[in-house]
Amino acid sequence: MNHLYLVLILPAVLAVQLHNHVGFIRFTQPVPDFLSTLSLKAQYDYKVILENETIPLNTKSADFKKWANTYNVMTQYTQYEIQQNSTKVQMEKNVTQLISQLSLVNSQISKILENGSLSIKEQREAVNELAEQQYPKVIDLS
Ligand SMILES: *[C@@H]1O[C@H](CO)[C@@H](O)[C@H](O)[C@H]1NC(C)=O
Ligand SMILES: *[C@@H]1O[C@H](CO)[C@@H](O)[C@H](O)[C@H]1NC(C)=O
Ligand SMILES: *[C@@H]1O[C@H](CO)[C@@H](O)[C@H](O)[C@H]1NC(C)=O
Ligand SMILES: *[C@@H]1O[C@H](CO)[C@@H](O)[C@H](O)[C@H]1NC(C)=O
Repeated sequence: MNHLYLVLILPAVLAVQLHNHVGFIRFTQPVPDFLSTLSLKAQYDYKVILENETIPLNTKSADFKKWANTYNVMTQYTQYEIQQNSTKVQMEKNVTQLISQLSLVNSQISKILENGSLSIKEQREAVNELAEQQYPKVIDLS
């Protein structure tokens, strides 16, 4: 076995596994499922918009619509956008909830540490107990 060959192939294989890919085009971000049914040209045009980090988001949204119109997939694209929007709303809710939970945990910990009728040992136990109760929830929401 030629070692040079392996050296050349391995990074390519890893790259494919590490990135989302549709057909022969690799994407660095999640893409709509229907993209894989489109031509490579359509996929490539989508990629150019998706991966351009200097386009303002409003413009990007308009560019995607133009793209969808060009390739006659406006209905699928709109559905994808609705789904993306609802995921985004859900994510924002989750983050808000997570932050309020962290803030609650923080004030509970302060209360324990300021409680002079507890021993150091009792304070430590109370903090640990709180962490055990709250930590799984915090993880769930992340
Ligand atoms: C990203 O979009 C801007 C504005 O349309 C354009 O000037 C720039 O060349 C694009 N960059 C890449 C890497 O395509
Ligand atoms: C998704 O959200 C953006 C930003 O709020 C909005 O401009 C767009 O119209 C929404 N898309 C759909 C299909 O609801
Ligand atoms: C929001 O949290 C719920 C409940 O933990 C979870 O099922 C959902 O996947 C989260 N959504 C996002 C977009 O993070
Ligand atoms: C301090 O800890 C004791 C024992 O757990 C508890 O009864 C009391 O309510 C606590 N005081 C405050 C101010 O949290």
